[in-house]
Amino acid sequence: MISKDTNVVILTGAGISAESGIRTFRDSNGLWENHRIEEVATPEGWRANPQLVWNFYQQRRRQLLEVEPNQGHEALVRLENYLENFLLVTQNVDDLHERAGSKNLIHMHGELAKLRCESCHHVETLMDEEHLKETFLSCSEGEGRLRPHIVWFNEMPMGMAEIEKALSECDVFIAIGTSGHVYPAANFLHTAKRRGAHTIGINLEPPENVHFFDEFFQGKAGEILPLLVEKWTR
Ligand code: OAD
Repeated sequence: MISKDTNVVILTGAGISAESGIRTFRDSNGLWENHRIEEVATPEGWRANPQLVWNFYQQRRRQLLEVEPNQGHEALVRLENYLENFLLVTQNVDDLHERAGSKNLIHMHGELAKLRCESCHHVETLMDEEHLKETFLSCSEGEGRLRPHIVWFNEMPMGMAEIEKALSECDVFIAIGTSGHVYPAANFLHTAKRRGAHTIGINLEPPENVHFFDEFFQGKAGEILPLLVEKWTR
């Protein structure tokens, strides 16, 4: 079903990083069970209590230093290396895909490793020890305060034009480890289907949109993906 010239778009969510030890959002003990979304993941929350929001993301940024990519991330690198047309879109803000070796990658919800100036919007990767504390940081280009380079609720996801173009041209769309609750990502499946793509889902639990996939594999991404990629690239 997949050959070297098949045009593949992949969407990943928190589930692919779960086996690396990063908590998902909506599973039991997920991040959103222990935090109020409106307090830590909205522009209003940042304006109301920036220290709370800053501490929340600094803790998650520090966690990046303790986790490693898993076999799911690594299998996607092998698939990318085999294909001529491949785009990986992730909703994840961790850096495990790029650390595994993924190249053609869009972080549609932003990146924990980067910070952005509130005034001039300059973006910097800042992950040294002095950047991971609870004190606010200033922009290296001016006076502005840095905020997490994260897409909060009510903000525009990143890279949408490129993602929509890739979806409109893809032959196969694969969603991995995402509950299908958050838009616009949850709509990518429908966009790909309208284009006539074959659609595949891989998830621990059946996601919200499970019935719309042509094929669905239930289980852990780190176990299923290496087997599927081995079969597809044989
Ligand atoms: P969710 O926490 O909503 O869903 C994670 C999905 O991964 C669930 O359906 C789990 O069943 C599944 N899962 C867990 N472990 C898995 C494993 N080992 N292998 C495969 N699947 C597994 O996370 P997302 O769908 O990524 O946005 O959430 C989407 C967005 O909602 C996030 O990007 C974040 C959040 O609010 C922002 O913060 C902007």
